[in-house]
Amino acid sequence: MAKLIFFLAVQILLLSVVSSTRDDGENFARTIDRKLLGLRRKEKLAHFKVYWHDMISGPNPTSIIIQPPVKKYSTTYFGGIFMIDNALTAKVSRNSTLIGKAQGFYAGAAQKELGLIMAMNFVFKTGKYNGSTITILGRNSAMSEVREMPIVGGSGLFRFARGYVEARTKWTRNLDATVEYSCYVLHY
Ligand SMILES: *[C@@H]1O[C@H](CO)[C@@H](O)[C@H](O)[C@H]1NC(C)=O
Ligand SMILES: *[C@@H]1O[C@H](CO)[C@@H](O)[C@H](O)[C@H]1NC(C)=O
Repeated sequence: MAKLIFFLAVQILLLSVVSSTRDDGENFARTIDRKLLGLRRKEKLAHFKVYWHDMISGPNPTSIIIQPPVKKYSTTYFGGIFMIDNALTAKVSRNSTLIGKAQGFYAGAAQKELGLIMAMNFVFKTGKYNGSTITILGRNSAMSEVREMPIVGGSGLFRFARGYVEARTKWTRNLDATVEYSCYVLHY
């Protein structure tokens, strides 16, 4: 019996050696030590607020309609797509310190109400966060007082980020708007 088990164990070992050296395209990923990426430390929870300026009007719009909504849905914006390179500032005033940009797009994704899909990167430009990003992908029922959207990832200091934002509209004029993004980010 012991002999048989030993025999089987050797067989399994041999098989695994053979399969790990065979280049069949199936073993493209391997497990590595978390320590190699500094992931031994506990995750940190960061909180900050930035103000997102969606400027559609004026001579220098940062939010541009690249696809108007389907005519039938002109009140809910269903089918409309906006590409943005919006300023993110430290205070609610558009003239306050620029912290970064919100780059990406949003689109009308609901037929019967205003329900946007937001897909954007916050690219930070200041201090140690310069160049780091977080990615927000979520549903924005823009007429609600508070909208929660997930943070699905990040780069740089925000590698492995996850979390959520709470968006609150602070100011609107026609289609232009300033929205407070209160961000809660878990990262290493
Ligand atoms: C920003 O500054 C400009 C010029 O100083 C001024 O005209 C404008 O009203 C200011 N905007 C806001 C939102 O404070
Ligand atoms: C941020 O990084 C860019 C590119 O590396 C650099 O040109 C810029 O001066 C940096 N800004 C600040 C505020 O550190």
